[in-house]
Amino acid sequence: MRNVTEENLTEAVLRQITAQDPRVQQVVTSLVRHLHAFIREVEPTEDEWFTAIDFLTRTGQKCDAQRQEFILLSDTLGVTMLVDAINHRLAEGVTETTVTGPFHAAALEMGNGAMIARGPEGQRGNHAVVRGRVLDVNHNPLAGVKVDVWQSDDDGFYDVQDENQPEMNLRAILTTDEHGEYWFRTVRPSSYPIPTDGPVGELLLGTGRHPMRPAHIHFRLTHPHYKRLTTHVFVEGDEYLDSDAVFGVKDSLVVPFVLNEDRAKAAEYEFPGPFYEANFDFTLEASQ
Ligand code: BEZ
Ligand code: FE
Repeated sequence: MRNVTEENLTEAVLRQITAQDPRVQQVVTSLVRHLHAFIREVEPTEDEWFTAIDFLTRTGQKCDAQRQEFILLSDTLGVTMLVDAINHRLAEGVTETTVTGPFHAAALEMGNGAMIARGPEGQRGNHAVVRGRVLDVNHNPLAGVKVDVWQSDDDGFYDVQDENQPEMNLRAILTTDEHGEYWFRTVRPSSYPIPTDGPVGELLLGTGRHPMRPAHIHFRLTHPHYKRLTTHVFVEGDEYLDSDAVFGVKDSLVVPFVLNEDRAKAAEYEFPGPFYEANFDFTLEASQ
């Protein structure tokens, strides 16, 4: 087609798209329609369009084996949580899902009760015991569920961001016992900023947004007969629960971390002083 105009350009592009795979056809035609509509609405100058291309170029250049700036972009634009919502329209009572984030890494299998805070944070206090059960939708306990947990320390840093923490710190893979129970000792996590030293940080700051995530512990539960669940448990009272930079908070995932000042209990857990206690039960949906 020659002599395309502002009016018929979208149709001209759509007519050229003849993918063999119907899903590819659907995705690419929809992309072209929405992208053209966006450009028609915004009417960018050529300089502005170049700025957009440069932003995406730098987003790609920021990615390496440790850093995924495109996922961060998706997270902060709410796209990750939208994809999550569409893909996890769960049955009544099943634990809600949330964003995975970039800090999942290999962890050691540990027994229930393990102390997963093995770095300097273990000396600073803020100790916590986190426990709960894993159930099916009929409230039956599920034994043998792998409970993969990872979290930041009480200053908001993951082991992979902090050379003062030992490898695989604040992460573990536990297994539920015959009562469906899991538990571990740790420190209470803190809120923290998502990485802002790249294009996504520029976008956040340039659009009047803060980069903070409310304090949370990540969980990924797996069992051969149940759907995998990736979620967080959030610390009740955190100041960022209502403005999470990646839109991951759900009321059902927020729990109190209650201070326990019982010295005998602290000694039982081998903590030097007062500690926090948090309880969270998970409910898994059977896989078809
Ligand atoms: C996290 O919770 O680890 C996280 C999630 C999304 C973006 C950055 C960090
Ligand atoms: Fe996190």
